[in-house]
Amino acid sequence: MAKATVPNYLLLTYLLIHLLLPSYLSETITLYKPEDILDAARSQCLVLFPHENLTKWKKDILQLLADVSFGNESSVLFGTVNTDNFLWPNGRQLNLEGSKTMENYFLIFKRIELDRTCLLLPETNIPIPSVATYNLTSFVSPDVLDDIVQFINTNCHTFRNKEGQLTVAGIHRQHILENLFKVPKTKENKNLDHKQEDESCMIGENDYAKKCENRDEHITNAKTQNKYVDTKNELQKCDRIQLSELSSPLQFFQEFVSVSKPVIITGAIKQWPAFTKWTRAFLHDRYGDIKIHIKMTSDGIYEGVEPKSIWRDESEKEIPKAVLEKLPYPDLVVVRPASREILFSDFLDLVENISQGKVKDISAYLEYSSIADYFPELQEDITEMEFFRNILELKHLNLWLSDGNTLGKLHFDPFDNFLCQISGVKELLLYEPHDNSKLYEAHIQEAVLSYNQSSHTFHRKTLLESTSMVMSPVDISDPDLKRFPKFADLQPLNCTIQAGEVLYMPAFWWHEVQSKPNVSEHRNMAVNFWYEPFLTREFPCPECSLDVNPKYFHLL
Ligand SMILES: *[C@@H]1O[C@H](CO)[C@@H](O)[C@H](O)[C@H]1NC(C)=O
Ligand SMILES: *[C@@H]1O[C@H](CO)[C@@H](O)[C@H](O)[C@H]1NC(C)=O
Ligand SMILES: *[C@@H]1O[C@H](CO)[C@@H](O)[C@H](O)[C@H]1NC(C)=O
Ligand SMILES: *[C@@H]1O[C@H](CO)[C@@H](O)[C@H](O)[C@H]1NC(C)=O
Ligand SMILES: *[C@@H]1O[C@H](CO)[C@@H](O)[C@H](O)[C@H]1NC(C)=O
Ligand SMILES: *[C@@H]1O[C@H](CO)[C@@H](O)[C@H](O)[C@H]1NC(C)=O
Ligand SMILES: *[C@@H]1O[C@H](CO)[C@@H](O)[C@H](O)[C@H]1NC(C)=O
Repeated sequence: MAKATVPNYLLLTYLLIHLLLPSYLSETITLYKPEDILDAARSQCLVLFPHENLTKWKKDILQLLADVSFGNESSVLFGTVNTDNFLWPNGRQLNLEGSKTMENYFLIFKRIELDRTCLLLPETNIPIPSVATYNLTSFVSPDVLDDIVQFINTNCHTFRNKEGQLTVAGIHRQHILENLFKVPKTKENKNLDHKQEDESCMIGENDYAKKCENRDEHITNAKTQNKYVDTKNELQKCDRIQLSELSSPLQFFQEFVSVSKPVIITGAIKQWPAFTKWTRAFLHDRYGDIKIHIKMTSDGIYEGVEPKSIWRDESEKEIPKAVLEKLPYPDLVVVRPASREILFSDFLDLVENISQGKVKDISAYLEYSSIADYFPELQEDITEMEFFRNILELKHLNLWLSDGNTLGKLHFDPFDNFLCQISGVKELLLYEPHDNSKLYEAHIQEAVLSYNQSSHTFHRKTLLESTSMVMSPVDISDPDLKRFPKFADLQPLNCTIQAGEVLYMPAFWWHEVQSKPNVSEHRNMAVNFWYEPFLTREFPCPECSLDVNPKYFHLL
């Protein structure tokens, strides 16, 4: 009894004297109702003390945390909550995980990680924040306040000490976020001219037709010359470094990974046995009889966005109306390639036939095919970069193989990427992951091409219920600047890799990939390592920006 009811005034006195004047403390403490918590937890983390039993000493701790330790931290709210008969709006009870047995505790309602992947949330399944409980009865020494602050940091992803300053890790994080790499702006940006014309078109309705007539003509002319290419100024190029210039994995981490800066690394993989060993004959011999999944299109364009109106819908399932209403571009679809399961030997033959022009109007692509699952022995012929081993977590290792005439349209991947070119060239145009409203990031309905094997023709007839979350609706080679005017502000980086070169492309950089064949080998081949990203963000969410992945807080 005595143990639980005797508050630790010693510690509080110590802190109150050393850190703050009593007048500094706020007067009011907010009482949160369940629906208030749900609302607030969409963007913030809540630290709430049970209201029923808010004795003086607990109130003092609460105010100390709210006003001093987290006084400058807008992502955490402090207050009280009635835990007796607490019910969420959906009727669920508060899960206190045995804290009922504790006499004094406080609760943390963690920020709700919105499931942005699903546009259709059933009403009964409203997201509820998860709750962490801190047992206050062991409140016996000044170190405990450090422990409490640390507990809040862990659960709310904050970086404060009890005096309210940023911790060392917090300072590192802030430094990283303030120094993220941006594509340097060239002085003259031809695309900006289009934007100005755009605006002048809007001036008066009467003038619109006349003024914009010219503009449209101008745009139409430019179409043929790839609008993203600034014809006066060359595109900015990715930095390039020699492996030998890098002194340590730490240097690479600091200069590129932590600031999300793409870079081409030369001299890193040329000694891989893959370059001499993975000939067509070897692959045919070794893996000819395994079954693989390939992707096919008629024109070599993969995952483009196009009007839904050119699709004849024969799908069995309709996309739900409630989902359609939430789509910002319901008139567009992302075109998924046709897929086929075939023998690897048939795929190699098909690629050869395509290269030699024996088969027309077909493109076949082995895309992000897991090496571990399909070609496990090939792992011996390549080696993971030193830079990441034991630093970032490897998620996938893939093989990419085609005749070399493919164009992967603008999208991003939620992984840090080492793209290693083995044969042919890949020309990647990269757009920053920062202001994604300019690339109109959104859910876009998907559709899948059908391939008729007897007629060798492709058909647009199957709209899918699913949506893509990583494709931009902007066609960078022919942008509709009336509809997507903000795109005109953007400038890409040109990161072109030759065989033997590696592109480090941080997660969430938008990229369009034009592959080109090695003309004597008639193919384009690459492998890529996908890592759990160091910097991450929610998606699709145009306004969400990169932040340090909580999985890597220990690296700060
Ligand atoms: C209130 O606090 C006292 C002592 O600190 C404790 O004995 C009692 O169980 C608490 N009641 C509730 C509802 O938390
Ligand atoms: C909370 O602390 C009290 C006193 O230190 C201890 O007896 C009790 O087991 C603790 N409860 C939990 C759930 O940790
Ligand atoms: C909180 O922010 C204010 C205003 O920016 C600043 O003066 C103060 O030093 C900060 N306090 C702490 C503990 O960092
Ligand atoms: C490739 O072409 C050859 C000869 O024209 C033909 O016999 C073979 O079936 C074709 N293979 C594939 C997979 O297209
Ligand atoms: C595939 O093409 C053949 C030949 O043109 C045609 O007879 C057949 O109906 C087509 N199959 C489908 C499923 O459309
Ligand atoms: C990108 O750079 C490569 C050479 O590094 C060049 O061949 C290509 O034309 C450039 N692409 C664009 C769109 O400027
Ligand atoms: C194309 O492949 C051949 C055969 O492997 C190789 O000798 C040649 O260097 C490659 N060409 C380029 C430009 O990489």
